Amino acid sequence: MTATRRQSGPFVVGDKVQLTGPKGKMNTVVLTPGAVFHTHRGMIAHDDLVDLPDGSVVASTTGDEYLALRPLLSDFVMSMPRGAAIVYPKDAAQIVAQADIFPGATVVEAGVGSGALSLWLLRAIGPEGRLASFERRQEFADVAEGNVVSFFGAEPQNWTVTVGDLVESLPGVMPDDTVDRVVLDMLAPWECVDATAAALKPGGLVICYVATATQLSRVAEALRASGAFTEPDSSETLVRGWHVEGLAVRPDHRMIGHTGFLITARRLAPGAVLPQLKRRPSKSDYSDEDVELWTPGALGDRSASDKKLRKTARQARTAATAAVAATEAIEADAAGAARPAPDAAPGTSEPTDDGR
Ligand SMILES: C[S@@+](CC[C@H](N)C(=O)[O-])C[C@H]1O[C@@H](n2cnc3c(N)ncnc32)[C@H](O)[C@@H]1O
Repeated sequence: MTATRRQSGPFVVGDKVQLTGPKGKMNTVVLTPGAVFHTHRGMIAHDDLVDLPDGSVVASTTGDEYLALRPLLSDFVMSMPRGAAIVYPKDAAQIVAQADIFPGATVVEAGVGSGALSLWLLRAIGPEGRLASFERRQEFADVAEGNVVSFFGAEPQNWTVTVGDLVESLPGVMPDDTVDRVVLDMLAPWECVDATAAALKPGGLVICYVATATQLSRVAEALRASGAFTEPDSSETLVRGWHVEGLAVRPDHRMIGHTGFLITARRLAPGAVLPQLKRRPSKSDYSDEDVELWTPGALGDRSASDKKLRKTARQARTAATAAVAATEAIEADAAGAARPAPDAAPGTSEPTDDGR
């Protein structure tokens, strides 16, 4: 059972209802017989919400209007208790899509943190799937379990949380070659590459969510060095909201500028050797030592060949010669203008090419 919570229909006792007040402030209540929602704008009895359609507007005792809606999963994760930083909905959506989390999939996740990503994964795998989550710290596991049960209304039977380090615990929970997807959201995912490779089925996929470019680089190199994965793909997701009102249609002034990077790679079949791709930097571009010393090669800044550089220099010199000639022509013109010819009007000029 993954979703015992009602997603639609009139409100019933036990439902979570998000109440949005006149100034946009949101509060979530769990409908309880006889309970009352108190605000400085009056009170709303829970009983008055029961049986109303989702999306109703109710008045408090002072006559202020509140919009009542079942919270979306994104509403829930953004307001639930947090033990550790959560995966934001924009990144969770990308994780589900890029990792191809499918109904019925067997998924491993570490660490579980506050359980935000666990909720999205449980939804995506559905009741036929299995989510095995791993978390080093008991307190975080407790927070995550509380949040997941709070959202679904019961402990999903297809979800296990193992308290312990992924590398040590994974082999005891998931036999080798049995996992479709591994999702790593932790400080040092590169430490888990070998354990992940062992657990994944051939063709399975690992996705890592990391906050910094240095982590991204390190996990990419670890995936490559393992020889067990395809060439990794990296990305970040920026979502910019828009203000759309009348003629004032423009991007929002504020946005979340950075959360994290995603990197994915597929598990190769045992013994398979990845063909060298043309776009992959050749080994001559960097050595293992370069990767440790942040050289341009290690940072992916591929140096141009000598031939290409000579051509670029020739282009620059040609442009410089033309610019000098143009300056000299302008100066000659100006000198000529100082001695007005009988048919030349002083001070006239041609428009420039770009019309400015
Ligand atoms: C950023 S939090 C995860 C947040 C979570 N994905 C969410 O959306 O709520 C990272 C968690 O990974 C745990 N962790 C770090 N390394 C781990 C490892 N090797 N095995 C298991 N858990 C680990 C940390 O204790 C921490 O709780």
